Amino acid sequence: MTVAEPRSTSTETLLVQNLSHSRWRSGPGSLDALAEEWPEGAERAVVVADQKAWRSWGPEVMGALSRVISPPDVIGVASGERSKQPAVYIRLVQALLRAGADRTSVVVAVGGGVTTDLAGFAAGTCLRGLRLINVPTTLVGQVDAALGGKTAVDLPEGKNLVGMFHWPVVVVSDPRFLDTLPRRHVRNGLAEMVKSALIADPDLLDVLDRDARRLAAGRPPAPDTVHRAALVKWGILGVDPFEQGPRHVLNLGHTAGHAIEAASGLRVTHGEAVAAGLAVAARVAVHLTGFARSEADLLRQRLRRLGLPDEPQVSFDAARPFLFRDKKVRKGRVRMALPRAPGVMEPGTGDWTVPVDEDLLLECWHGLP
Ligand SMILES: NC(=O)c1ccc[n+]([C@@H]2O[C@H](COP(=O)([O-])OP(=O)(O)OC[C@H]3O[C@@H](n4cnc5c(N)ncnc54)[C@H](O)[C@@H]3O)[C@@H](O)[C@H]2O)c1
Ligand SMILES: [Zn+2]
Repeated sequence: MTVAEPRSTSTETLLVQNLSHSRWRSGPGSLDALAEEWPEGAERAVVVADQKAWRSWGPEVMGALSRVISPPDVIGVASGERSKQPAVYIRLVQALLRAGADRTSVVVAVGGGVTTDLAGFAAGTCLRGLRLINVPTTLVGQVDAALGGKTAVDLPEGKNLVGMFHWPVVVVSDPRFLDTLPRRHVRNGLAEMVKSALIADPDLLDVLDRDARRLAAGRPPAPDTVHRAALVKWGILGVDPFEQGPRHVLNLGHTAGHAIEAASGLRVTHGEAVAAGLAVAARVAVHLTGFARSEADLLRQRLRRLGLPDEPQVSFDAARPFLFRDKKVRKGRVRMALPRAPGVMEPGTGDWTVPVDEDLLLECWHGLP
């Protein structure tokens, strides 16, 4: 079935469409497999690369590309969230056009979530859509950002407010990239892995726990552990590619997390904020879903052992304006994805979020009432 057919708007059909368009290679050797996955009819490539990642890994990526295509132009993206500004996005589209991108071209995004979000949005909109290949080089990218088709840039009003779903045709997650990742960015990825484990793979919490000393020191997790965390997201995407229902569970820890990140003026990184957000969500869940108090305490211990924060880094008052700007606020109430137990998320009334009163959120911000 093709997207042109009217019935293709059902979730099930889109799923087939998406999964048949988004192929994912992960684990050792996956960069070398890029040639096997090269999309049919793609005659030209333009690389959009995080400058730091490219410094370390440019020759390897060029080597893999050279097996299928003549050397592509490379457009550098400066390191950091500031590259997700609308002005940078416009300059990137212009650079793609100057590099000769046309409808037969593929944009190859090489970098972390900043690069894949930015390059994905540019690819999705340039000439009404160019094919995209994601080569995530950070742990956050490999377990989260590069999978799932969400692309965006930021506005002064908030993060990711201009964007679209644009599914990569191929995602290549090679563990070797993680060898050069700074410790702080390994920890950011660990927070997303704890989130995924808590959502649907509680045994993964024990795997992380057993390796906690090494991970907290900034060594990346083993490739199969990274793959396992990414599989949680991949599985949910298969059920709900466009976030109509179950995909909301992936926001676990992000309601408080995004507010902390924004209120800190981005001083607190995304992963550090999400870790604290998980601790808050667990406390709220103790009150609303029957999540065991002992599990909320254990989660905080696990976060600490991984070198992650287990308390909000900003006051509730500082975070409050951002909490109520969350995309999931309805009728003045914050809605949160919450666990019932490790591996079991609360379905709510069907959209997999639960309304939370401000008073309760305030009480849970710094401790269990
Ligand atoms: N689209 C999604 O579904 C989704 C999901 C999660 C996060 N995100 C977005 O992703 C962004 C965060 O992504 P991130 O944590 O990957 O950050 P990032 O892209 O800023 O990369 C982190 C840092 O690592 C450097 N770097 C990248 N690869 C490297 C490598 N192999 N070796 C050494 N340094 C390397 C970068 O230059 C940067 O300084 C945020 O903007 C967030 O909103 C998007
Ligand atoms: Zn996140």
